[in-house]
Amino acid sequence: MNIERKIKQKIWSKEHNYFLIVQPGLESILKNEIISFGYNTTKETNGGLEVKGKLDVLYDLSLKTRVATKILFRLATFKATHLSEIKKALTRLDFCLFWPKDTNFDIIVSSKSSKLYHTDMVKEFLAKEILSFGKKNDFNYILDKKSQEKLYVRIEDNEITISLDASGDFLYKRNIKKKTSKAPIRENIAAALLLKYWDKNKYLLDPMCGSATFSIEASMIKNDIIPGFNREFNFMNWVNFKEKTFNFLKNKYTKNLNYNIKNIMPSDLEEASVKVSNENLSIFNGIKAKKENFLNITPSKESGFIVMNLPYNKRIKVEVDFYKEIEHKLLKDFKNWEYLILVSRNHKFNKLKKDNLKIKNGGILLNIYHGII
Ligand SMILES: C[S@@+](CC[C@H](N)C(=O)[O-])C[C@H]1O[C@@H](n2cnc3c(N)ncnc32)[C@H](O)[C@@H]1O
Repeated sequence: MNIERKIKQKIWSKEHNYFLIVQPGLESILKNEIISFGYNTTKETNGGLEVKGKLDVLYDLSLKTRVATKILFRLATFKATHLSEIKKALTRLDFCLFWPKDTNFDIIVSSKSSKLYHTDMVKEFLAKEILSFGKKNDFNYILDKKSQEKLYVRIEDNEITISLDASGDFLYKRNIKKKTSKAPIRENIAAALLLKYWDKNKYLLDPMCGSATFSIEASMIKNDIIPGFNREFNFMNWVNFKEKTFNFLKNKYTKNLNYNIKNIMPSDLEEASVKVSNENLSIFNGIKAKKENFLNITPSKESGFIVMNLPYNKRIKVEVDFYKEIEHKLLKDFKNWEYLILVSRNHKFNKLKKDNLKIKNGGILLNIYHGII
């Protein structure tokens, strides 16, 4: 059977499993997002969930998810305690249905509670097998650590799951920001928190905007701008890429994009952050960051939503009374406002309400405060 026919039969006409990786703590937000797209999950674990569907589902999810960090294409799941069982399972995998003739690839192996615990040995074995498979079929495959074509091999309780990285660059890399400031929040965390807590019809104040991550994500949520509109995905390099299907979906979501943003107000104390924010916000109209000290802001609205990713006193140091002053300012001048505050777990506010969401940003455990003043 020639390769085009094989692709049609084994890839295009079949449903596959896609694993959406998510930052621990954000699983239920991702699940709600997936449900809002009209999909069901087929499996849920800490750190991710699985969705089943044809290739259009992979393309749709990749373009639309604001919360997932990566999507893996599941190739195989099987029990194995010995390399010979991996060898047997590999005979059922056909990399020619994914990788072009000249492909650099890397293999990432993890192992937990399994007989095959020596990850370097498994990697070496797999690489040898795949390279000889390539040679046999006259393909020029090269093992290359730097390649974005990655094969993920997860071994847990003697069960092996082999997947391909369908995303390439992490999905939080939206290719919108030109620069970042000192301690940016990841786009997918900002989006997840906004999806969970913010009613997009509410006026949003982002008074410690840094590089404007919250304002950018809020603008996209508000105007239904898909997060994947300005980037590429690794599956676009695969020989099974259905370009017409992908372009159809992308055009459907991007043909009437509205970049006019209303009622989102970013500001920051530092001139440099304001400059970076305005460069990052330049794809939108009607939104501009201002230089302002939060402690001097008098809200122009009776109520609204205020989001603050406070300095954690690590990369950005603060004065001893900083957190007290912030709390005092909120309680004094922001009556009826809804707040969402991210702060390092070392700090606790006295009168603000702590939510039980547990997440990390940049390796730092956070406390999330949410409520209405
Ligand atoms: C952790 S960073 C926010 C990062 C931002 N979420 C991002 O993704 O880039 C905290 C920001 O608060 C700003 N900041 C600190 N004290 C402030 C104050 N009193 N008023 C306004 N901004 C302040 C800092 O300049 C810094 O940009």
